Amino acid sequence: MTEKLNDIARALMAPGKGILAADESSSTIKKRFDTINLTSTEDARRDYREMLFRSTDAMKSHISGVILYDETIRQKAKDGTPLVDIMKAAGSIPGIKVDAGAKPLAGPTAKVETITEGLDGLRERLDEYYKLGARFAKWRGVITIADGQPTWNCVKANAHALARYAALCQEANIVPIVEPEVLMDGPHASHDIDRCYEVTEWTLRTLYRELYDARVDLEGTILKPNMVIAGQKSPKQASAEEVAEKTVKVLKATVPSAVPGIAFLSGGQSDEAATQHLSLMNAIGDLPWGLTFSYGRALQAAAIKAWGGKPENVAAGQRAFSHRARMNGLAAVGKWEQKLEKAA
Ligand code: 13P
Repeated sequence: MTEKLNDIARALMAPGKGILAADESSSTIKKRFDTINLTSTEDARRDYREMLFRSTDAMKSHISGVILYDETIRQKAKDGTPLVDIMKAAGSIPGIKVDAGAKPLAGPTAKVETITEGLDGLRERLDEYYKLGARFAKWRGVITIADGQPTWNCVKANAHALARYAALCQEANIVPIVEPEVLMDGPHASHDIDRCYEVTEWTLRTLYRELYDARVDLEGTILKPNMVIAGQKSPKQASAEEVAEKTVKVLKATVPSAVPGIAFLSGGQSDEAATQHLSLMNAIGDLPWGLTFSYGRALQAAAIKAWGGKPENVAAGQRAFSHRARMNGLAAVGKWEQKLEKAA
């Protein structure tokens, strides 16, 4: 079993490839569609995701896996082909978001802090998702930096839930992506990069302790962390080089080399910043694990805009998506250059 999970994790980390996070919940995808004045119907969600998954060249060359939402893993394309079959035909591994979202953490910080729910019944759901084709999964724990937060209670509870989730995934022969996200956006987010470093270090140390206690086999996991970066509202923004250096530093200090790969979330960074940071980190080199992307917004924002919900814009949407996939594919091997953006 271990070998198989490690094979899947390594396939997800194939050189020049990364993961497309297309697992927006119905309420999140509605927010994305609101930006193009599109009503979020089941058909609209299908058309949009079908457009992405049928970007065959980009999928084949740069997308090793796709994280899906429950609706999408069961959905069929307009011509009746299951969406899962379309991505598999392009060589991409289907994955599934299995958490039930971040809910207020009961207690004195409930207005700020959250705990991710979804452990009840997870064993049965994982069995079903495996049958539907999922070979990896995702669970996102959220850590908010604010005045007096995060609390130890929040860090510990989220790390513990991630570990319980990861153990259940491995039991079901599914690779767990463990995602402890220290937020860079939201109503607080005025911290500087050093505060992000401190909280990310604390979070990752706690997470790996919990994974050890739960006897999770690290060789069959992938980490999906935030980068070490200032909050969006901070007046003190760090340079791209500093983000890359501090992110690599915290990962080296906390993530065991048994972990086959690290696939970042974009977290609210601009498309280009997310690409540049990843490329700079890979250019540093001499890293014990692979470093790639598992972006949602930074891979999709341009595509949603170019598509605009109109069938006649499908090719334009696919071009925009393919461009970002290619740029991030280059970043995954440390070879992105700003001038390639302009050449598009
Ligand atoms: P972003 O890249 O938009 O942060 O999304 C990644 C993700 O999967 C969040 O859970």
